[in-house]
Amino acid sequence: MRILVRNGTIVSDGRSFAGDILVAGEKIVAVGHLVADAAALPGSVDRVVDASGCEVFPGGVDPHVHLDLDTPAGISSDDFVSGTRAALSGGTTTILDFVTPGRNESLTAALADRKEAARKSLCDYGLHMSVTAWNDRSFSELAACRQEGIRSLKTYLAYKETIGLEDREFLAVLEAARQLRLLTMVHAEAGDMVSFLQKKLLAEGKVSAANHPLSRPPEVEGDATARALLMARLTGAPLYVVHVSTRQGLDAVASARTTGQTAIAETCPQYLLLNEGLYQRDGKTAAAAVMSPPLRGLDHQAALWEGLASGLVQTVGTDHCPFNLPEKMRFAASDFTRVPNGTGGIEYRLPLLYTFGVRAGKIPLARFVDLVSTRPAKLFGLYPRKGTIRAGSDADLVIWDPEKKWTVSAAGQMQRCDHTLYEGLELCGAPRLVMRRGETVYADGNLVAEEGSGSWLGAEATP
Ligand code: URP
Ligand code: ZN
Repeated sequence: MRILVRNGTIVSDGRSFAGDILVAGEKIVAVGHLVADAAALPGSVDRVVDASGCEVFPGGVDPHVHLDLDTPAGISSDDFVSGTRAALSGGTTTILDFVTPGRNESLTAALADRKEAARKSLCDYGLHMSVTAWNDRSFSELAACRQEGIRSLKTYLAYKETIGLEDREFLAVLEAARQLRLLTMVHAEAGDMVSFLQKKLLAEGKVSAANHPLSRPPEVEGDATARALLMARLTGAPLYVVHVSTRQGLDAVASARTTGQTAIAETCPQYLLLNEGLYQRDGKTAAAAVMSPPLRGLDHQAALWEGLASGLVQTVGTDHCPFNLPEKMRFAASDFTRVPNGTGGIEYRLPLLYTFGVRAGKIPLARFVDLVSTRPAKLFGLYPRKGTIRAGSDADLVIWDPEKKWTVSAAGQMQRCDHTLYEGLELCGAPRLVMRRGETVYADGNLVAEEGSGSWLGAEATP
């Protein structure tokens, strides 16, 4: 099948230009001012997509999603089918999810299980390997995971009771990651301080969901980020800090960069657009807003937007991890530490950042594309297969209607959750058509991709 996408404004690799894209099978074969008339192209064209008035982006790459996540407080509400349907409808064609082995579980066995679960995905997908403990087998297991296509590790400095690491373990992971050329990601909240504050608040009778942010103040993220980066410096390993939510976290990243360290910062739409005021609203809203790190004040939001504009923040992922309200509410009035952590946003990542970033004049269009597609593809070894519009790349394309006005509503969303924290928000810009490896998977509101049609990307990551 040969498809010509004509007359769009192509935005890719820092440039924006009027042009056409020729797709053959799963790949882009030519980009530029191809012809005035499709019939004049060498070889026949089966279909012409008119992109006049639209912008054309490389498919979104969400570097941070948790689908079908089993937590002590229940399983998240989106699985690999519902979550990736939602992703495609919002312009994300590639997702990176996580393997989260138990502390005594074999990493390779956990990888095989998670790969099996992810096979239902409609997006192309890769996995980060979480290291939840360090023991004599860990290095050789990580080497084996690398052979299986793993290129990145996830570590937690929070959640010390279950999956979080002690400093000595984190250092061992960083050292192994350097030797094996794996990129380490870190959830940087100081676990011991969080546990201490949680117990203190509960003992004082401050038990409702509104108290969740008090157990994780901004300094706890700042301290953990600075220490994680120091440990990365001692080992010489690069470090990717997930979901940075505070000025303190950003300052730590900026200061590490001045020493020449490779310090990468990710943030998420919820930290850019929602704020801690939600915890003071009704009980349902407070419970729905329980996530870690928690939502912050407006001063932190301003710092994050500045970070996006300056390049200090290099990716925007979602940390998509929704739970329905009955699960969120079960302990919301009696024990905030038992409310499942996380919120959903896989469907809204591009429209939110486009509306409040590009249209609001806070970030240029080319930076937007870099943040949601190109940079994550580069950092996780998927570029130039993903994250760019050029000959030879996968034909993952988003034909974007920049003028489409619409309102977020849980009733109309594809992500499987009975609420959204973005309810009622008015957005400008949406995908008109989404192509994943040359196949039209979404057009004019209709999702047509088959369950399981996504491809595993790990094995093809760069050596
Ligand atoms: O609250 C969050 N972020 N939930 C998802 C799991 C995690 O901590 O990354
Ligand atoms: Zn996460």
